[in-house]
Amino acid sequence: MAPAPSSTSSAVTLNINGEKHHLTVDHRTTLLDALRERLDLTGTKKGCDQGQCGACTVLVDGRRAVSCLNLAVAAEGREITTIEGMAEGDRLHPVQQAFLDLDGYQCGYCTPGQICSAIAVIEEHAAGWPSAATEDVRPEAGPPPLTPDEIRERMSGNLCRCGAYVSIVQAVTRAAEAHHAAAHDGDRADRPETPEETAA
Ligand code: FES
Ligand code: FES
Repeated sequence: MAPAPSSTSSAVTLNINGEKHHLTVDHRTTLLDALRERLDLTGTKKGCDQGQCGACTVLVDGRRAVSCLNLAVAAEGREITTIEGMAEGDRLHPVQQAFLDLDGYQCGYCTPGQICSAIAVIEEHAAGWPSAATEDVRPEAGPPPLTPDEIRERMSGNLCRCGAYVSIVQAVTRAAEAHHAAAHDGDRADRPETPEETAA
């Protein structure tokens, strides 16, 4: 039975991968420990436990966050997505598939965090966010090309002790291209047909 809330603990409801979880947590419990130790969501990994390695990266309201530096009580009311929530049934998320197809891992320990980060990186880039590697940050310059340097900079919070970086960059590139193509097709489907298309 879950312990009753006290002066040092609180009952919280965490919305994780679209499912609500009710638990009582010590106020010092990190989101990472709540996921792994209380909810058996062990896909999220603990590396340094101090915000340096990115192994514990999850998405909070669609933005990446290192779960070892976030308290579980502060995550109440937020939409949390972990690696367990990325696939749709048997269909992997395109970023997961790209990591698989291009060997974007060796031991796999950093991989859940890398994938969560990459998913957010692709969204951030598509939304036009610049990075420290972006040469022209004027809004009118538009999104920079997602070059290997851009990917390396944007993914620099995620360390890989196996050094699978070359394949990781390739996987993010492929997934970003697929995301861009899908968005482009969506734009075309949304726009009205030209007179030539209507006549065809
Ligand atoms: S375990 Fe959270 S950043 Fe390393
Ligand atoms: S694949 Fe082993 S740490 Fe990255």
